[in-house]
Amino acid sequence: MVAKTMDQLVALCKRRGFIFQNADIYGGLQGVYDYGPLGVELKNNLKNAWWRSMVYERDDIEGLDAAILTNRKVLQYSGHEDTFSDPMTDCKKCKGRFRADHIKDGKCPNCGSTELTEPRPFNLMFKTSIGPVDDGSVFGYLRPETAQAIFTQFRNVVDSTSRKLPFGIAQIGKSFRNEITPRNFIFRVREFEQAELEYFVMPGEDEKWHEYWKEARIKWWEEQGLKRENMNIYTTPKDDLAHYAKACYDIEYQFPHGMEELEGIANRTDYDLGNHTKAQEEMNLTSHCHPNPDSTQKLCIMDDNNKWVVPFVIEPSMGVDRGVLAVMTEAYEEEDLGEGNTRVVLKLKKHLAPIKVAIIPLKKNNEAIMNKCHEIKQNLLKLGIGRVALENTGNIGKAYRRHDEIGTPLCITVDFETIENQPESVTIRDRDTMEQHRVNVADLPAYLREYFL
Ligand code: GAP
Repeated sequence: MVAKTMDQLVALCKRRGFIFQNADIYGGLQGVYDYGPLGVELKNNLKNAWWRSMVYERDDIEGLDAAILTNRKVLQYSGHEDTFSDPMTDCKKCKGRFRADHIKDGKCPNCGSTELTEPRPFNLMFKTSIGPVDDGSVFGYLRPETAQAIFTQFRNVVDSTSRKLPFGIAQIGKSFRNEITPRNFIFRVREFEQAELEYFVMPGEDEKWHEYWKEARIKWWEEQGLKRENMNIYTTPKDDLAHYAKACYDIEYQFPHGMEELEGIANRTDYDLGNHTKAQEEMNLTSHCHPNPDSTQKLCIMDDNNKWVVPFVIEPSMGVDRGVLAVMTEAYEEEDLGEGNTRVVLKLKKHLAPIKVAIIPLKKNNEAIMNKCHEIKQNLLKLGIGRVALENTGNIGKAYRRHDEIGTPLCITVDFETIENQPESVTIRDRDTMEQHRVNVADLPAYLREYFL
């Protein structure tokens, strides 16, 4: 069962420290959120799973970590300055501003007035002054997608790694868009993270690779716990495509507020490399590109016949924050335990769980028990399984409840038997089945290695 409402998820996120409204004490900053102690772990685990599958498990993809501040020329030649905009309508009565495609029946969504202005384009990029003089003459942008630096660094990566087609460049990082109507918690925000792969292929092989990446990405999301029946593949109609795309699939997910885009997989053709290339007339481009007198490079690669070619690009682009929301939505369950008892449990895949193991002393502040807890924790840390948390609340029931809610797969309880009997043993409780059994302390590393790695 997926989460019933967004409110339940938002409440859990705040209560347990996953996600907070940014600048909460000053009334917040709309469309901006902060990840708390558990949220940062969950988000890092999701990003690590992506990086592992893209970069470590493959032999054809390199990584990159480029700057957020972006030279204006990059976004002029990419087409973002001219076209990266949403049509907006103002209400003359309440002065509200809305995306034109969000207006229903010609009425203001705020006050119902029909006195609306004609839609006008509103650029979504954040402009920022660069350098000591703030007179607006020298400015750049906060990047609206991570992709552009992959294109502008294309030759540096090729020259430093001797790559041949097909190959890809992967990057995870922040992007910024001045969304007109941020909404649905972390679904549509103004500062967010993207995990993007630009996969460069021979022109003519692009459609085959587009299909390949669609299937690969669905499979990856299933490995993160999303059920196939909660996903939908939407083929973007031609007249809705982004300015750079020839075709695009969206992987949609059944979020609490509806079936919406989680990841886009676009065929960007040779549009971007072509637009950032000098002397385009020599390059046999298929895209319509604007002449670029500013670029100093041809963004091309040698093919098998020693001819220069501008590759086509297939781009799986995932929103990390939407990914966090999706895996939490899928994992959230309220279970009826009978006799009027219920529990909230986050059945996250174990590689995503913010805390892997909680060590819980049966008795608070009991020195012998606490020493044993510390000793076990130090030994488990050496396994490299992720975060191991030590509780000292003395209330086992509350500790189990908390760890069910935050998705901790295993709780280890240290009790009097542990310190008084030989061989030393602890109980291990499974989050999903709630079953408990005893394991010898000496066997814990092997047990957990087998379970997590
Ligand atoms: N480089 C291609 C690109 O940026 P996009 O469809 O505009 O394509 C890719 O964005 C992904 O980034 C989306 O599928 C979504 O998951 C995420 N994303 C886009 N805008 C977002 C926003 N305002 N808030 C959160 N995530 C967003």
